[in-house]
Amino acid sequence: MAKNTTSYICTSCGTVHKKWAGRCENCGEWNTITEDAGTGSAAPKALGKSRGRTVELTDLSAEEAPLPRQLSGLDELDRVLGGGLVPASATLVGGDPGIGKSTLLLQAAGAYARSGAGVVYVSGEEAAAQVRMRGQRLGLADAPVKLAAETNLRDILTTLEAERPRLAIIDSIQTMWADHVDSAPGSVSQVRAAAHELVSFAKRRGVSVMLVGHVTKEGQIAGPRVVEHMVDTVLYFEGERGHPFRILRAVKNRFGPADEIGVFEMTGAGLAEVANPSALFLSERGQASGSVVFAGIEGTRPVLCEIQALVAPSPLATPRRTVVGWDSGRLAMILAVLEARAGIGFGGMDVYLNVAGGLRVGEPAADLAVATALVSARQDHALPEGTVVFGEISLSGALRPVPQAEARLREAAKLGFNRALMPGGTRRTGPDPIAVDTLDDLPGFVESVF
Ligand code: TYD
Ligand code: MG
Repeated sequence: MAKNTTSYICTSCGTVHKKWAGRCENCGEWNTITEDAGTGSAAPKALGKSRGRTVELTDLSAEEAPLPRQLSGLDELDRVLGGGLVPASATLVGGDPGIGKSTLLLQAAGAYARSGAGVVYVSGEEAAAQVRMRGQRLGLADAPVKLAAETNLRDILTTLEAERPRLAIIDSIQTMWADHVDSAPGSVSQVRAAAHELVSFAKRRGVSVMLVGHVTKEGQIAGPRVVEHMVDTVLYFEGERGHPFRILRAVKNRFGPADEIGVFEMTGAGLAEVANPSALFLSERGQASGSVVFAGIEGTRPVLCEIQALVAPSPLATPRRTVVGWDSGRLAMILAVLEARAGIGFGGMDVYLNVAGGLRVGEPAADLAVATALVSARQDHALPEGTVVFGEISLSGALRPVPQAEARLREAAKLGFNRALMPGGTRRTGPDPIAVDTLDDLPGFVESVF
């Protein structure tokens, strides 16, 4: 007889715990662990009656020919997906409430529908009339998108079975409700069950699904992370409140490069694509100490952005280290290397680091730009105008070359920069489009710059 055990599950990351705790050991979030009714039935004891079918790898071409990828015409979205929507794929679009997920997906629905694909947009949050109103405001009044306001999963699957669209958008997965699961809508079991049903429907019927997932702060509603492992592609829609810029980032993609970004601007008439993000991220830049332009690579594109540092005497016993848009552990490392290898100390000082424009930089290639910004702020000495910086820093204080130097230099040249600071030994062929200062170790770099 099956034992009736209660388990506890983290609504943020989906980790199962034996006991309730205030903080999840896996993801470190507080108050996210809830009791889980559990749907797990006992493992099957006997073999099934019917056989699963296998296909020779070499015979795959003989199977029904795979459909080509579908382009939406929204270039930023197509690129983040890895070159268009893959048929029968499952995509999760996560993001904070109010960031613009529904707007993005309704625009995507309109674009796909206009390019000839059948699209069903299921909203569990708004009535069909409200979605239509929003669509009109976005200039999609004539797009042949089919709308449904529904939360019952069984009904949705029946609709999709009848319609057999090329793309089904589910907004949002947290509002979906599977009647074979006991727990409340939004719980981890419900969200997982709904995602599982929708993803297996997608694979079985050749319908692509896009699931919207709200990033939640309170513990009762499951976050998008609990379904990340079930889908092929995970996109996060990010941006800062008060800023119109939005970044769509692929954090997982079975069909394309991860870390690819698409940049949008939220306007009165919906999201507008930003074709030249470098110009956008640098548009509000002033020439001051602590400001450095980093020549980065996001996915397959070079993107220039401004890194700002502020260093000020601290009244606190433990000075503040505040980071926006970069890893705080990495900042601690750079501060330690500057102190130990170049003798530039930050003890007794508050350090603030910010990547302008709401971008999140993950590349180690930003090390040198961060170090330069910190030194520039610390010495109150601005970098010469028209300079870009990139390179990795090792714990020994040596600078390491980073890949794709040429693409970075070309992008910098295109935006009017005329000088680059980078590690010596950086591989590049052909003439440099701008003057290049190669540096080899940290104290030497500090001297050469300031
Ligand atoms: P929405 O797509 O509803 O967010 P989400 O689905 O992620 O919760 O977007 C909500 C915000 O976007 C709202 O604050 C208003 C803004 N917005 C515009 O600025 N312009 C527009 O054309 C639209 C439709 C929304
Ligand atoms: Mg929404």
